[in-house]
Amino acid sequence: MKILNLISSPRGEASSSIKLGNAIVEKLTAANPDSIVITHNLTSKPFPHLEEVHINSFFTPAENHTPEFEEAIKHSNEAIAELKAADVIVIGVPLYNFGIPSTLKTWIDHIARAGQTFSYSENGPEGLVKGKKVYLAISSGGVYSEGPMKAYDFTESYLRSVLGFLGMVDIVAYRAEGLSVPDLKDEALSKAIETIAL
Ligand SMILES: Cc1cc2nc3c(=O)[nH]c(=O)nc-3n(C[C@H](O)[C@H](O)[C@H](O)COP(=O)(O)O)c2cc1C
Repeated sequence: MKILNLISSPRGEASSSIKLGNAIVEKLTAANPDSIVITHNLTSKPFPHLEEVHINSFFTPAENHTPEFEEAIKHSNEAIAELKAADVIVIGVPLYNFGIPSTLKTWIDHIARAGQTFSYSENGPEGLVKGKKVYLAISSGGVYSEGPMKAYDFTESYLRSVLGFLGMVDIVAYRAEGLSVPDLKDEALSKAIETIAL
């Protein structure tokens, strides 16, 4: 089993989303000892924000690529190849300002490419990244999966939407929530880890 493990918190050992993601990876590798795990820290090696050259390289046929386009599209090609090669994708997500960290968004901007990861058919858009299992490890200061802040729960719904659009529809989310709430913070992570069932 090939596991792609993405980290998008810059907080290293203090990070709850990394701990939760690691707990998922540990369970997966315990159950599948031959697994290969590729881990990318999107904060220490970030994907570039999309500039004109990236977009032009995405929409220009490969045979017409200039050396500048070839250089610009490398990140995207590598990320897409890695994504397609993976059986399982684990994504650690610290909730930032009601959304995902920009480092994770730039990764998404590089993997969402017409003709590569989705296409438009007569029946509308079709995701081309099929047969993957995705685990989200989301951590947040507040509680969004239920209660008064549920209307602000954009993170999980956005990731389900965009990954689903690309064909990744088998998604399980684990959430360490309430990490800034006095009554919840001490047990939020351990409770989330306890719920991991693969
Ligand atoms: C820049 C920033 C923005 C944040 N925005 C929110 C937010 O909108 N809602 C929330 O509940 N928590 C927010 N938090 C708290 C984080 O979601 C929480 O600390 C989480 O555990 C961070 O993940 P990590 O431990 O993996 O780094 C924010 C934290 C930071 C650093």
